[in-house]
This record gives sequence, C-alpha cells and structure tokens, in this order.
Amino acid sequence: MEIGRGAEAVITLEGGTVKKLRLAKSYRQPALDLRIRQERTLREARITSEARKLGVLTPIICDISRFELKMEKIEGEKIKDIINQDLSRMVGETVGRLHLGGIIHGDLTTSNMILSYGKICLIDFGLSFYEKTVEAQGVDVHVYFQTLESTHDHPEELIEAFIAGYTQTYPAAEAVLQRVKEIKARGRYL
Ligand SMILES: Nc1ncnc2c1ncn2[C@@H]1O[C@H](COP(=O)(O)OP(=O)(O)OP(=O)(O)O)[C@@H](O)[C@H]1O
Ligand SMILES: [Mg+2]
Repeated sequence: MEIGRGAEAVITLEGGTVKKLRLAKSYRQPALDLRIRQERTLREARITSEARKLGVLTPIICDISRFELKMEKIEGEKIKDIINQDLSRMVGETVGRLHLGGIIHGDLTTSNMILSYGKICLIDFGLSFYEKTVEAQGVDVHVYFQTLESTHDHPEELIEAFIAGYTQTYPAAEAVLQRVKEIKARGRYL
C-alpha cells in the first residue's frame, strides 16, 4: 500500500515495514541520477542509525539495497499537522542533540518529524551529513524556521519555543541562532 510520495521517493507499507524507493529523475543525466539515488539511500541508512546512538528517535533500518530502504514503521502523527509550542520546544531539544553529536539533518521540515508515543521521531535523512560548523547548523535551523513561517500560524511563538529547547540541549546554541539571523538577512538581499 502506498502511504507517501515525496520529492523523489515512493513510500509503501508492507506488513509492519516501510519501504522507501528512490525513483529515477528524468531531468538528471542518467549516470548522475544513479549516483545521487545510491548515495542518498546509503546516507539515509547510515545517518538514520547514527542519530539513534545520539539518543534521537529515528526508524530502525531493517534492510538496504541500491535505491531502496526498508525500515520500521513509526506510529504517530506528522508534526506538520499538530505543531504547537510544546512540540516545537521538543523539536528544539531533538535538533540540539543531533547538532551536539555532529549531524546535520539537511531537510528539517515539519513533514519529516513524527510525534510517536510522546517523542519526536526524525525521518528522511537522505540529505544529512556530518558537520560541526555554525554555518551548517545555522542553515539546518533556518530551514525549520522557514517551514514554520510558510506553513504554520503564529510562527513567532513556535520559533521562541524551539529556541528554548535548542538552547537547553546545545551549549553552542547562541552562536547558531545569531548565524540564523545572518542567513535570513542574506536571503533577503540575494
Ligand atoms: N518510517 C516511517 N514511518 C512512518 N511514516 C513514514 C516513514 N517514512 C516515511 N514516512 C511517511 O512518508 C512520507 C515521505 O517520506 P520521506 O520524507 O522519507 O520521503 P521524501 O519526502 O520523498 O524524501 P526525500 O527527501 O528523500 O525525497 C513522510 O512524510 C511520512 O509521512
Ligand atoms: Mg520528506
């Protein structure tokens, strides 16, 4: 049964397992397309598992082939549909833990977060990478703030709540949040 179709993957549910298959993109040169899909599949498998070791809830990866992952189905609701200040604060704590451990998610939208049994579960690590710079962390947080601003009412309160959670778990939060302001200003003048 198909349960989702993102920018580049089809998600199907088979028994209790989610299958994520990255489809070919005809606008890419074929050899490049193969390489990108393969790399993102591998990256997603690897970093989804690494994040778990940092205490960030992510799906258990069961199987990987060239363009396809099988993983645990996460029960719960998309944060996109239920976001509030409490949840945004929990997102802040989760992202703080991820950044502290040296992982950048790369696509921190509220569609890539599920509230499962009271905890935030992060999914969709295909664009993630290892980096500890303020710039990479700033871009990660900027993407989350932009999602709040474009898809949710009262983004200011949700942003404030995120900041509280992020600052609580990540000692270098202040520098990152300063950088987020700069990244936003940069965007306005590009
Ligand atoms: N492990 C999972 N458990 C439950 N639901 C999932 C799981 N993985 C994906 N989904 C659902 O499928 C949707 C799309 O999945 P995902 O975000 O991984 O793909 P995508 O957006 O196509 O990503 P990509 O950036 O790789 O193109 C999610 O928003 C979520 O609703
Ligand atoms: Mg997604």
